Amino acid sequence: MFDLLLKNGTIVTDTDTFRGDIAVRDGKIVAVGGQMEEESTRVIDLTGKHILPGVIDGHIHCMCPFMGCQGPNDFYKTSIAGAFGGVTMFIDFTNTEVGKSVYDATQEKLELMEMSAVDYALHAKVVEGNEQTMADLRKLVDMGIPTFKMFMTYRKDGIMCDDATMIKVFKVAKKIGALPMLHCESNALAEDAFDACEARGDLSWRAFAEAKPGLCEAEAFTRAYYYAKSVGCPIMAVHTTVKEALDVARKAHEEDFPLYVETCPHYLTLFKDRYDAEDGYLAICSPPLRTPKDAADVWDALKDGTISITGSDDCTYTREEKSRFLKKDGQGKWIQDFRAVVNGNSGIETRLPILLSEGVGKGHITLNQLVALTSTNIAKIYGCYPRKGCIQAGADADFAIVDLDKTWTLSKDTLHNNLDYCLFEGMEVKGMPVMTIAHGKVIVENGAFTGSRGEGKFVSRRLDPEILKRYSALAPGVRSR
Ligand code: URP
Ligand code: ZN
Ligand code: ZN
Repeated sequence: MFDLLLKNGTIVTDTDTFRGDIAVRDGKIVAVGGQMEEESTRVIDLTGKHILPGVIDGHIHCMCPFMGCQGPNDFYKTSIAGAFGGVTMFIDFTNTEVGKSVYDATQEKLELMEMSAVDYALHAKVVEGNEQTMADLRKLVDMGIPTFKMFMTYRKDGIMCDDATMIKVFKVAKKIGALPMLHCESNALAEDAFDACEARGDLSWRAFAEAKPGLCEAEAFTRAYYYAKSVGCPIMAVHTTVKEALDVARKAHEEDFPLYVETCPHYLTLFKDRYDAEDGYLAICSPPLRTPKDAADVWDALKDGTISITGSDDCTYTREEKSRFLKKDGQGKWIQDFRAVVNGNSGIETRLPILLSEGVGKGHITLNQLVALTSTNIAKIYGCYPRKGCIQAGADADFAIVDLDKTWTLSKDTLHNNLDYCLFEGMEVKGMPVMTIAHGKVIVENGAFTGSRGEGKFVSRRLDPEILKRYSALAPGVRSR
């Protein structure tokens, strides 16, 4: 007797696509294969639908005070929005501050996350390199938190790690089997450019994008890679957007160095002309939106396997929060000052549909690559595979069921977070998550949320030593070179 039987769907993994049934008992997959006729409490006929492993968002910032703002969503709301986008697990970051231990920040954040309707995990944010921090990082690995993010910019916002701290953390991470994650933007170049913008009196939204060009990102990316290579420590470069950086990754991969790369859907589909609009402040994020040519380069890197994962970098702030520290002129127009705008975008719900439509639908990536980029590789790199990220006996019964033919229009009115705008407003997408299943329970069905607050559980992670050692240990099906 099964609890749930998914019949007649097309099962998609990172390497295969096949027709088959999936049987679930006690929240786990117990069988995957041909026609199954055994009795089941619930049977769902998925003829015409594709069954993907539950989407994992390995990069969100929820309930994260930043630049004077907090965001409108708690973890319950974010998990609901995610569930509508096929997300069955996400990973957030500790709200570490200078003077507050990363261990205490971890405990605080884990408490907030308990309300989530889907499974969750945590990356530690490191903002200083004292002895206490280094001791805490060891404890965190034992607690199942083996990934540490460092920011190479945002000095004035108090969260930047200097180079010495980065190197120190790399050394500790190497010893304890952890993976440092880097926000790669050169603080020196960005601050210098911001000062130049101020001096010439142009703090427009557009000037923000020009002040942090591709080189600002590539310089930090290259520096992080060189430090990592010197120490012999693997790294993950998050939200990567430019060819100069991707070419460095390609070189690292030729040497089989474990430099992993993430990008986000907004860098593939939104461009810096967005900053020419009066409400361009809504699109202020770091790195900034770039050009269609940059996006084409990033698609190429998704296709050739240089980029291993995608994340949403969901960091949602309302219109009011985005403009909280701005003023208007006599005509009611914004007096543009990009320095006063909190950085961040929303995206946990839109990542899967955008990648389905713009990526698979337009031939940039295959459906199998999409699975790798939204689930399997994230589980593998961040240390929760094969419990997560795959469709095989023994794994958690987490699925995103998609209808590849269904078209819809992205809009604030149809998405499920507490946001009063949508950067993708009006974008027509083809391919839609129509049902989400977490631990064998249907949590989104027929356009309604059927999950419960607090049903998500903390996922303790341990990194794969082979993936920490060599890039080629990641799915061979994904590397095409
Ligand atoms: O602009 C962004 N990306 N905000 C979120 C924080 C970060 O840098 O990841
Ligand atoms: Zn970042
Ligand atoms: Zn981020």
